[in-house]
Amino acid sequence: MYRTHTCGELRQNNAGETVRLAGWVQRTRDLGGMTFLDLRDRYGITQLTFSMDEQPELCKKARKLGREYVIQIEGKVRERSSKNRQIPTGEIEIEVSSITILNASQTPPFTIEEESDGGDELRMKYRYLDLRRPPLRENMILRHKAALATRNYLASLEFMEIETPFLIKSTPEGARDFVVPSRLHSGEFYALPQSPQTFKQLLMVSGYDKYFQIVRCFRDEDLRADRQPEFTQIDCEMSFVTREDVIQTFEGLAKHLVKEIKGIEIGSIPQISYDDAMRYYGCDKPDIRFDMQFVTLQSRKENIQHIQPNHGFKVFEEAEAVIGICVKGAAEYTRKQLDELTDFVKRPQIGANGLIYVRYAADDTFKSSVDKFFNADTLKNWATHFSAQPGDLLLIMAGELDKTRKQLSELRLEMGTRLGLRKKDEFKFLWVLDFPMFEFNEEDNRWYAMHHPFTSPKEQDMAALSSHPESVKANAYDLVLNGSEIAGGSIRIHRREIQEIVFDILGFSRDDAKEKFGFLMNAFEYGAPPHGGIAFGFDRFCALLGGYDSIRDFIAFPKNNAGRDTMIDSPSEIDSNQWDELHIKQNKSNS
Ligand code: AMO
Repeated sequence: MYRTHTCGELRQNNAGETVRLAGWVQRTRDLGGMTFLDLRDRYGITQLTFSMDEQPELCKKARKLGREYVIQIEGKVRERSSKNRQIPTGEIEIEVSSITILNASQTPPFTIEEESDGGDELRMKYRYLDLRRPPLRENMILRHKAALATRNYLASLEFMEIETPFLIKSTPEGARDFVVPSRLHSGEFYALPQSPQTFKQLLMVSGYDKYFQIVRCFRDEDLRADRQPEFTQIDCEMSFVTREDVIQTFEGLAKHLVKEIKGIEIGSIPQISYDDAMRYYGCDKPDIRFDMQFVTLQSRKENIQHIQPNHGFKVFEEAEAVIGICVKGAAEYTRKQLDELTDFVKRPQIGANGLIYVRYAADDTFKSSVDKFFNADTLKNWATHFSAQPGDLLLIMAGELDKTRKQLSELRLEMGTRLGLRKKDEFKFLWVLDFPMFEFNEEDNRWYAMHHPFTSPKEQDMAALSSHPESVKANAYDLVLNGSEIAGGSIRIHRREIQEIVFDILGFSRDDAKEKFGFLMNAFEYGAPPHGGIAFGFDRFCALLGGYDSIRDFIAFPKNNAGRDTMIDSPSEIDSNQWDELHIKQNKSNS
């Protein structure tokens, strides 16, 4: 037996036992006559002791061990005289009687401790070493537990996990496909699935009325902290359900996971319509850990006008919309802080022209950046609209409605961050419902499905589908956690004629639609039941539960910011005979 116990297991009640452990040398400390060695494995750290007086040879051997050597030891468990209450094994140590070196190690390129001295790129290159560090290990454990809890929960509701293929045909879901050339079929390509969307719908036609899969998806899109080219979904589909059934089932899953992983009970999850999310938060994934809802002072589109005319302030006169937020208790913000905020909204990523502030001082007076145009009575009137109290700060932006909402949304998040209102240990979920079915793209002058082309319009909007696509709402829903979209789904179209109309609106010719989706539309003619589903971004959910922003920390072997795996050096060139086998001609830059 290599080991009788792990390095995280021994306690005071094991004192006196002879044990065998195996693991990695975390560090050694020589204190005159004694040498201490921390032995680490996945389960924890156990202190080993060597006495120069009693076993000089063994002690010398221990002193020579380098960091990350793999060793096996035998020894006796004894109670420590000075206990370490920080670690579970801190009450004992092992008086070692023999050491076997199982493998030597080069000095690692960075410290393998709670906080490493290695930079991002270096740690990515040696990911297998980084994964030894406790924070990443904890993240992997969290992910494992979440996957297990998901399977248990869904299986208890009679969901079946069914695998779907990875070598498929391109399905349009908004991102670019990764494609795989076929050796057997010259000039033809498989695509890796962006999600198993069409397959899970086919499984409904096959009668597997509750399906799930923890499944890898592939999307060739630009990377961000919360996006990887390959990522994992908890993908689910159900038959004979309404939107409410799906929401109820997966609200249950979200609650179960938060309970299992964080030990926290979350109450029922609030719901908001897409239109209200845009109106009050300027985005379709509001962070509701804090309030600071938008107040509209002027919106020509919506016929809202709370600003008295003839004020002479050109910015407002020319603006389609004037919207603001009330920042509680921030009237004391200094000129410098306000300038910083103005610079923040003027950054090219946000692109605002400026920011207007109104300080509602504790002594009931007003000071604003538009004092020249508006008197104290007017400012007080605005303050009433904002339900502001003395001591509050109003931040107001003006311009085109949609753009201004977007810009103010960024400012709202920035204020939430600055005021410490976006706590990582708070979990605020929100359902966003009734998304528009389509969005129009000015660049290529066509409609796109906001969720995906298989999403059903809301029943009451069916009649307007062809005539007024812009007004049609989708029977789609997103689940948002702390301002991140962690799941999205919809009730699907299950009748061929509706699917055909949607493809028409999306600009697919009948032939094109048949070529790309004939298999699905044919299936709809063989008794497709009404169905709907959802998919959770599993990496995102885990990262948020773990209190991280980046999903990279929850993926064992992720890609870097440039979409590369620097450890295995991928993507990389292939041999010229592989090009030939795949019937692809190398262009000059490749040869
Ligand atoms: P959607 O495209 O909204 O829906 O994806 C579902 C969830 O997957 C996560 N996600 C990602 N996570 C990491 N990296 C990415 N590149 C990435 N892209 C998406 C998000 C998102 O909410 N087939 C539909 C689901 C359905 O309708 O049932 C779909 O894939 O958290």
